[in-house]
Amino acid sequence: MKIGILGQRGGWHERSLQKGFARHGIQAQSFPITRLCASQGKPSNISVNQTILNDYDVLIVRAIPGGSLEEIIFRMDVLHCLENQGVRIVNSPAAIERTVDKYYTLSLLEDAGLPVPASIVTQNFDEAMEGFDTLGQDIVIKPLFGSEGRGMVRVSDKDTAYRALRALELGRYIYCLQKFVPHRCEDIRSFVVGGRVVASMLRQSDSWKTNIAQGAKGKEIELDPGLEQMSLTAASILGTDYAGVDILPTEEGGHCLIEVNGIPAWRGLLSVTGVNPGDLLVDYILNKYL
Ligand SMILES: Nc1ncnc2c1ncn2[C@@H]1O[C@H](COP(=O)(O)OP(=O)(O)O)[C@@H](O)[C@H]1O
Ligand SMILES: [Mg+2]
Repeated sequence: MKIGILGQRGGWHERSLQKGFARHGIQAQSFPITRLCASQGKPSNISVNQTILNDYDVLIVRAIPGGSLEEIIFRMDVLHCLENQGVRIVNSPAAIERTVDKYYTLSLLEDAGLPVPASIVTQNFDEAMEGFDTLGQDIVIKPLFGSEGRGMVRVSDKDTAYRALRALELGRYIYCLQKFVPHRCEDIRSFVVGGRVVASMLRQSDSWKTNIAQGAKGKEIELDPGLEQMSLTAASILGTDYAGVDILPTEEGGHCLIEVNGIPAWRGLLSVTGVNPGDLLVDYILNKYL
């Protein structure tokens, strides 16, 4: 079985997956997704550094790095082409597209009846300023394609909102505004592999951003059946083989979904729970696609 990992710099998660496959006697090779090369006509193939990928059974996507519009679209197109030719892509290109974009993710979740925070996403500065008022003048401005809490700001002052939104206008960014959900600096990350929640943790921080990458500490928890079902439904609506699901507690005592990560990290979760979702992903892939 030929298994590859499309990553960026051969980081910890790529090595973790390689070790997981090595336990089954499979040597999974890691390739930089930034070096995809497609040739058409004669020969017709897709390769990275001369290694042809078309005859791979499975390719696991571990990075969609930021870049120009052309770079990102080209990489996604190549993934679609490989999938069309029969290579299993994990997560699938469609699932990556749904999860990488916070607007698309939340609209699909909401359409499926799942709770999400009030949000306004617009291309127009004036509408964004109105959105600041509509959302109660305490908002989080998010990059549409952000991760690890980077680049998102909480704004509860109109002048600051004006300056922040004007800065986005200069870069021709989409204005992605969300009502701030008071959450006592903690939220839940659950990890789904193949239709099963394999581990979850409460993330607690000194700041409102509870990403482990931002310094939050994790604590193992067992999800109650309602939140477990919420995680599984979210992961399935987005068509993911595996996903990290972020759940915020709301003031009313309920919960809402803020993100489904289609290229989730698990290093923090592993150190907190002892469960290695990477190994479980390896097992899932071997069972499903072998
Ligand atoms: N609407 C919100 N209200 C309060 N806190 C939020 C809100 N959205 C995000 N956060 C905080 O910021 C963190 C990162 O947000 P998230 O949407 O998951 O983006 P990222 O992809 O950067 O992880 C969350 O885990 C949560 O702690
Ligand atoms: Mg998140």
